[in-house]
Amino acid sequence: MISRLNYSFKYLHYWLFSKHKKGHGIHSPFVFSIVKNVFNNNSKNEELTKVFKIVDYYKKNKQQIEFKDLGAGSSFSAIKKQTIGKSIKQSSVNKKYGKLLFNLIAYFKPKTILELGTSLGISTAYIGSAAPDSEFKTIEGAEPKLKIAKEIAQILELENIRFIHGEFGDVLENTVSGFEKLDFVFFDGNHKKEPTLSYFNLCLEKAHRNSVFIFDDIHWSTEMEQAWEEIKQNKKVRVSIDIFRMGIVFFNDDLSFQHYVIKF
Ligand SMILES: C[S@@+](CC[C@H](N)C(=O)[O-])C[C@H]1O[C@@H](n2cnc3c(N)ncnc32)[C@H](O)[C@@H]1O
Repeated sequence: MISRLNYSFKYLHYWLFSKHKKGHGIHSPFVFSIVKNVFNNNSKNEELTKVFKIVDYYKKNKQQIEFKDLGAGSSFSAIKKQTIGKSIKQSSVNKKYGKLLFNLIAYFKPKTILELGTSLGISTAYIGSAAPDSEFKTIEGAEPKLKIAKEIAQILELENIRFIHGEFGDVLENTVSGFEKLDFVFFDGNHKKEPTLSYFNLCLEKAHRNSVFIFDDIHWSTEMEQAWEEIKQNKKVRVSIDIFRMGIVFFNDDLSFQHYVIKF
């Protein structure tokens, strides 16, 4: 991971020089519509409010869980002990980005969804609540976390989610081949360059012109920045959007090749 200071500096640079917060200056109607209807969507939603409430509730949970810290994919033997609340605060999407995931799903209406890195199921809850009828699979290597994720999905009555326990390297290929196509993929685990690119390439086999792939923590480390550069430059990627914390890519070949850095 890059140092906290370096990360803050990069964020400051993004904040000062990124544009288009309200969509001004964006000529692509496709991207303009995303900025207007997804990034700037502040409408209230009952399902989203339910997720906010359950997240607030679990953030206060002091129950200790013990799990293999797969973190950046570096160590498979380190065991970490943490309260559920602390783990959510440390590694799950916050409300701002959870809402973004919810709104992206509500806007694109994917029928098939894959998530890499369930953790305690917070992002899973945002995604699943926006697409209760989709075919949604989510993968996590640390079983004790998956148990909580299932509990949260149950409270939210999200019955369409299939939780898969396993290391991405062992289960991803099989999981991807079980999908006819992939409409939406959220990559949020093992933040290293080569694994990220290999997961991207695997998922690319099932991508189509309307697929949306979203990557968390694209500026979290030098390796992630290198992976993001390669993803952006992949010939199949038509449009990429960098909102600093996350990167989003689109494949529609009617769109001209373009990269945006958008203030979010
Ligand atoms: C940042 S957390 C995911 C957070 C979650 N998406 C959310 O926002 O609520 C990343 C998760 O990926 C899992 N992970 C990392 N590398 C993995 C691997 N190689 N195989 C399986 N799971 C892995 C970790 O155990 C961790 O729970």
